Amino acid sequence: MNNGWDDPEAAADYLARRHGWADYIEGPAMQSVLPNMTGRRVLDLGTGSGQWAIWCVEHGADSVAAIDRSAAMLAHAPTHPRIQWIQADMETVQYPASSFDCVVSGLALHYVNDYVGLVTRINRWLTPGGCLVFSVEHPLKYANSGGSWLSDDDGNALAWPVDCYLQEGPRVEEKNGLTWTKWHRTIAMYVEGLLAAGLQLTALKEPGATDEGWRLQPAIAEGNRRRPNVLVLRGDKAASE
Ligand SMILES: C[S@@+](CC[C@H](N)C(=O)[O-])C[C@H]1O[C@@H](n2cnc3c(N)ncnc32)[C@H](O)[C@@H]1O
Repeated sequence: MNNGWDDPEAAADYLARRHGWADYIEGPAMQSVLPNMTGRRVLDLGTGSGQWAIWCVEHGADSVAAIDRSAAMLAHAPTHPRIQWIQADMETVQYPASSFDCVVSGLALHYVNDYVGLVTRINRWLTPGGCLVFSVEHPLKYANSGGSWLSDDDGNALAWPVDCYLQEGPRVEEKNGLTWTKWHRTIAMYVEGLLAAGLQLTALKEPGATDEGWRLQPAIAEGNRRRPNVLVLRGDKAASE
């Protein structure tokens, strides 16, 4: 099974296309719930080409450890004195307790099988008062994983099929001989996992497109209105335990 993220062409294609939804849907929602970055030590999980790692240092973070399993994605990450790029699997990486003030992850945790295990470890890695902020593909989008709208004979989108929403587990997508395995879980499972890990849920967003997004990317904005693309959550660790 070829992991799509390991393929240089697929990685470049994702990075070329990510702006539509990242700039006008996912990005603004993440930014609205990310903490003040000044002086923070940050861990970025599934960093890709470093979208969030770069945002964090540009907003004052002291240091970012930016992890991704894919060399093809990391190849697009720029050198930065305060970002350490690490090729590793976020499901097996280990850190001492209280290593980070903030853990951020953009559109990556739906590739993780053991979500509860990971957020439990993240809680341990966070300093008291620290937080985890992450986005995932919206579970309604990939519950069925058909990846396309039901259309009429003229190709007009009629509806987005949702099936087996309550059935947690892998959803395999294949394209050009490559495979992406997403791990479906419901919104409740994302929230309950955070709570089980000991974090307090402090934000949950299902963002629509910004006004600029509606103006510049109306098709993406309309598709997102009909079937949300992104879920954003924030969990906070108590300031004292
Ligand atoms: C959709 S991309 C998101 C990249 C970036 N965070 C962004 O917002 O554009 C998902 C990334 O997660 C990475 N990834 C998936 N599973 C991973 C794992 N177990 N450990 C580390 N990285 C992983 C992939 O290699 C890919 O770069």
